[in-house]
Amino acid sequence: MVKQIVALVVVFAAVAQGLDIIQCSNNRPSPQEVIIPGCTSLPCSVPNQSDFNFSVRFAPTFPTNSLTVDVRASLLGLFLPYEVPDHLRNGCNNINTSCPLAAGQSVTLTGNAPVEAPLTGVTVTMEFEITGDGGQVAVCFAATVSLT
Ligand SMILES: *[C@@H]1O[C@H](CO)[C@@H](O)[C@H](O)[C@H]1NC(C)=O
Ligand SMILES: *[C@@H]1O[C@H](CO)[C@@H](O)[C@H](O)[C@H]1NC(C)=O
Ligand SMILES: *[C@@H]1O[C@H](CO)[C@@H](O)[C@H](O)[C@H]1NC(C)=O
Repeated sequence: MVKQIVALVVVFAAVAQGLDIIQCSNNRPSPQEVIIPGCTSLPCSVPNQSDFNFSVRFAPTFPTNSLTVDVRASLLGLFLPYEVPDHLRNGCNNINTSCPLAAGQSVTLTGNAPVEAPLTGVTVTMEFEITGDGGQVAVCFAATVSLT
């Protein structure tokens, strides 16, 4: 009984820390934690022409010299054009240490993805995929964003 209570407390503590994100398809590796300032549950609301700010903690399972950030936005299953700005694209510039990374090394990447919406009041799914050398996926997560 006591053990069960302890386990419950641990689970709540883990959830309270980060955001409960959406897992990517095809078993791509999930992050250890995602924090989106001002957003405690999905969808996160982002005003037009504002930035979607996020911080993701992950550990690539393989050594890598590079990290490339890709963002895909979709609405009702249709992909919307999204151009990843240069400042976000090179993940090595936005981690709390420098590349190369060793296999299993935990890092935190902080990024801001600009959001510009042709229409408001819709909820868009944004998928963030970070790949390392040779295009191998280091981490992937998605979040729903409602444009205001
Ligand atoms: C993201 O961060 C920028 C700069 O700190 C801030 O101006 C902007 O309002 C933030 N966006 C959201 C949706 O909180
Ligand atoms: C970078 O972030 C990771 C994961 O949060 C942490 O384990 C590591 O100590 C940090 N490294 C530095 C140099 O701050
Ligand atoms: C969002 O901002 C862009 C750029 O200024 C503008 O073209 C677009 O109409 C805006 N969307 C809405 C719903 O106001």
